[in-house]
Amino acid sequence: MKILLLGSGGREHALAWKIAQSPRTESLFIAPGNAGTDNLGRNVELDLADFDEIAAFVIDNDIEMLVVGPEIPLVEGIADYFAKHDLLRHVAVIGPSQAGAKLEGSKDFAKAFMMRHGIPTAAYQSFTEAELTEAEAFLSTLHPPYVLKADGLAAGKGVIICPSLEQARRDLREMLGGKFGKAGARVVIEEFLRGTECSVFVMTDGTHYQILPEAKDYKRIGEGDTGPNTGGMGSVSPVPFATPEWMHQVEERIIRPTVNGLREEGISYKGFIFFGLINCPDGPKVIEYNCRMGDPETESVMLRLRSDIVELFEGVAAGNLDQHPVETDPRAAVCVMCVSGGYPGSYKKGFPIKNADHEGSIAFHAGTAIDHGQLVTAGGRVIAFSSYGATREEALAKSMKAAESVQFEGKYFRTDIGKDLR
Ligand code: AMP
Ligand code: GLY
Repeated sequence: MKILLLGSGGREHALAWKIAQSPRTESLFIAPGNAGTDNLGRNVELDLADFDEIAAFVIDNDIEMLVVGPEIPLVEGIADYFAKHDLLRHVAVIGPSQAGAKLEGSKDFAKAFMMRHGIPTAAYQSFTEAELTEAEAFLSTLHPPYVLKADGLAAGKGVIICPSLEQARRDLREMLGGKFGKAGARVVIEEFLRGTECSVFVMTDGTHYQILPEAKDYKRIGEGDTGPNTGGMGSVSPVPFATPEWMHQVEERIIRPTVNGLREEGISYKGFIFFGLINCPDGPKVIEYNCRMGDPETESVMLRLRSDIVELFEGVAAGNLDQHPVETDPRAAVCVMCVSGGYPGSYKKGFPIKNADHEGSIAFHAGTAIDHGQLVTAGGRVIAFSSYGATREEALAKSMKAAESVQFEGKYFRTDIGKDLR
């Protein structure tokens, strides 16, 4: 199988690491990739917004499978583009149609979908600028804190949790007034849910699904989950409260109705569904859907996936995923992300990185590049270390050792990944 993987982050390095292990993989290209992915295949400079350019590469190189890492090309309709193209129709695209990607691309669509299919989620209403009065009236029926969500993709920044009604009113006006551009032209206002979050991933061929190991990510920059949100500072798998009983509830109340709902609505979906869940007193509820894997969850989930991922992808494409069971590694996996000083605010790039490899841990590059033969920092999140352990503590200790030993100016990482769980 000749495979092209789209994306350039730690998630894509972890996917590439797993894809490269498959005997089914004949060649692997990563576009655009990073300094880590280049060791597992060949990086190619493609613009992910330019489907014609991607098509030309796929045709010229006889690519048979396209694995889409990030959401934007999916929300922009890359799967439909391939399906409609005479020379690309045979390519196995791992990622949903544009209609399916709306589960992530439109929060309003996702909420309405959950309502139609009785999937547990926070109570909500959605409003446009013309409905500001109604939106404010709805806000005043809720209790603090208030949750405002821009309907469209807003680079992970479109969710605001407001402590007071005054703040919520101000943020609502700003959002509807264009703070997030088109993404905020409609705003979802929803009930605040209390509980611990858990990310659950499935692969689906549109009819069958397989559940991958679950994970928890750590979004805040500071120890003890404090400070501003980031793209993710680490992750753990498994999650202790995701017991077989809890996962059974997730499957019956959330996963099955989602996959069946997509099929009943005639929405083509072949790829990953990421369920962002919250463990509420009355059971799991959906906070959000994503149409891709999570980052940095993938950097621990891939360690615990024993099955051949390319065989699973082939099952997705062929529609016989029920014949490809997922085998899970019983060990714990913990990922610790090293970031640039100043991140998630402004930071400098181009610092040399030393000791990127550390025995006992797997280094997944996120923002790295090669400059004149030297590995350098090239992003806010720079490099993640993922390790196995008989326990979560053991896995964390190994990842921390690696995070301590890598060197680049301004390096920062959290030392408490997974410590809140018991
Ligand atoms: P999202 O972009 O939808 O993942 O939201 C970002 C984060 O906001 C989530 O990971 C949660 O921590 C938080 N969040 C979103 N919706 C809610 C909600 N209804 N109740 C509590 N927290 C929420
Ligand atoms: N880790 C959360 C996400 O990938 O959206």
